[in-house]
Amino acid sequence: MTRTPLMAGNWKMNLDHLEATATIQRLHWALQDANFDYGKAEVAVLPPFTDLRSVQTVTDADNMSIRYGAQDVSVHPDGAYTGEISARMLSKLGCSYVVVGHSERRQYHGETDQEVGEKALAALAGGMVPIICVGEALAIRKAGEHVAYTLAQIDAVFAELAPELASRSVVAYEPIWAIGTGEVATPADAQEVCGAIRERLAELYGRDAAEAIRILYGGSVKSSNVAAIMAEPDVDGGLVGGASLDPEEFARVCRFSEYIA
Ligand code: PGA
Repeated sequence: MTRTPLMAGNWKMNLDHLEATATIQRLHWALQDANFDYGKAEVAVLPPFTDLRSVQTVTDADNMSIRYGAQDVSVHPDGAYTGEISARMLSKLGCSYVVVGHSERRQYHGETDQEVGEKALAALAGGMVPIICVGEALAIRKAGEHVAYTLAQIDAVFAELAPELASRSVVAYEPIWAIGTGEVATPADAQEVCGAIRERLAELYGRDAAEAIRILYGGSVKSSNVAAIMAEPDVDGGLVGGASLDPEEFARVCRFSEYIA
C-alpha cells in the first residue's frame, strides 16, 4: 500500500483574502518553477473562512493543482447557530479538507473528543476529508503518558466513525509542546506515536484500512527538518503552521522528497 503524502499548510488566523490570493499564487509559481511533481505529495492550504472564496477563484482561474480546506466546521447541518459555518457551505466552496480538533480549538473553545468526532462526521457527510488532530501537552509527555493519551483521543474520536468513513479520514499527530514553539519532535518521537496510531487503527478497522489512512506530523515543521521526519515509515505528511505562511518556504517543505537521500 502506498500512501500519497499530504503537506497541508494551516494558516490559522493569518492572511486576509488579498494576502491569501497573493500567497497561493506565489506558492503555485514556486512549485511550478521547481517542476514540482504533485504525484510525490499532495499540497493543500487551510485558510481562514473569509479567504476561501478568493482561494477558490484563483485556484480555478489558474488551474492550480493545490487543494484547500477549512480549519473548522460546525457539527450542525444548518439552523440557528450564530457564527458557525456548515459542511455544506465549505463543500460548495470546493474545500477538499477540514481540520477538526486542532489543539487550539480544544484549548480555547473547549472542544471535546466527542465533538471532534461529530465534526469529522459532518465533514465526511459533506464529501470532504477531515484532518483529525490529536496530541499531548508537555506535562503528559514528561510523565511518559504521550502514547496512551493520544491513543485515547483516537479511540474517542473514531468511536463516531464507521469503517468506510474512518478509511477516508486523515489523522494529524501534533504534540502541543512542538506547536509554534520551534521545538520539533525528533523523527523517532514522531514515528513512535504515528506508528502506535496506525496499530490502533488496525485494531479498530483492520490492517488494510489502517495502511490506507494518512497520518501527518505537525509541530514546527520546516524545510530544514521535514525530510528527516518524512523518512519515518508511519509519517505520511505534515500539518505545517508558521512555515506555510511563507510560500517559498512552504514550497521547499512540499519538495521534501528531493532531499531524502
Ligand atoms: P507550527 O503549527 O508549524 O507553527 O508549529 C502547526 C499546527 O499547529 O498545525
